[in-house]
Amino acid sequence: MGSVLKKIRVINMIDEKVPESSTREYDFTQQEFEKIKKIIYDRAGISLSSSKQNMVYSRLARRLRANNLTTFKDYLDLLERGDEKEWEEFTNSLTTNLTSFFREAHHFPLLGKHVEQRSGQQRITLWCSAASTGEEPYSMAMAVMKAFNTLTPPVRILATDIDTKVLAQAEQGIYNMERLKDLSPEMLKRFFLKGSGLQTNSARIRQEVRNMITFRQLNLLDERWPIRGPFDAIFCRNVMIYFDKPTQYKILKGFSPLLAPDGLLFAGHSESFQHAADLFKLREKTVYEHAKKQ
Ligand SMILES: C[S@@+](CC[C@H](N)C(=O)[O-])C[C@H]1O[C@@H](n2cnc3c(N)ncnc32)[C@H](O)[C@@H]1O
Repeated sequence: MGSVLKKIRVINMIDEKVPESSTREYDFTQQEFEKIKKIIYDRAGISLSSSKQNMVYSRLARRLRANNLTTFKDYLDLLERGDEKEWEEFTNSLTTNLTSFFREAHHFPLLGKHVEQRSGQQRITLWCSAASTGEEPYSMAMAVMKAFNTLTPPVRILATDIDTKVLAQAEQGIYNMERLKDLSPEMLKRFFLKGSGLQTNSARIRQEVRNMITFRQLNLLDERWPIRGPFDAIFCRNVMIYFDKPTQYKILKGFSPLLAPDGLLFAGHSESFQHAADLFKLREKTVYEHAKKQ
């Protein structure tokens, strides 16, 4: 009897429902959460802590509804059957896309100076490797245009992200005025077109700014990236925080041959690449350069 009870307790621990399950539309077991954690880690490198259970539930419950499924088991079976469209939706659902224009503002005058110093070069290329909804690559483009004092500087920006939904939004370049509230009237006038009619509460980034940027899906976790360097600067900000150190190191090793010899690597405010000191060294606050002469 005792051993049967023990067995039941062990099964319950594995298959335990996450808290707040009483108010949930679908059952969501601990085991299912663990499985999802492993899948998103293997696919996108994203390490989810156990505090993210509720977030995972609410984001994926939408996918169950969209697919007319009634259990997480059926949803996981659907993924296992290799439904490519659903894999994309699954990944899009679990990314965190928080961003803003000129976030970590000190990077942009530095980027402007950096590209200006290279004005003799035939072509200057920049890579924004976690572009989200576009605020970051557009801020880079505006900083470059300011530095060259023209809407057609000799600069190209590649903007990539794993999430196809945010990339589609980024390509549109339409933003609610609330998201533009920290930009000066002068910047708004120079780089945006105010919406009219039903769109008065939004503005679209000017075509010239959009022309500088190519948006493409790219998973930083992939073994090979279908891109060619050298890049004069790489922005990889506020995405490494979702990866563990070995994953970060692998990505940094991939950046190394793609960054021009005197190129700059920009990191997010809470990210440090000290554990990759053989590859990159700190030049100034959250800005890195090659550790060794190339
Ligand atoms: C918090 S946002 C940061 C956006 C912007 N870089 C910034 O600093 O404002 C993180 C972005 O990283 C993307 N991301 C997550 N995992 C990724 C991966 N494996 N490869 C490429 N992008 C990824 C997400 O889709 C998301 O848009």
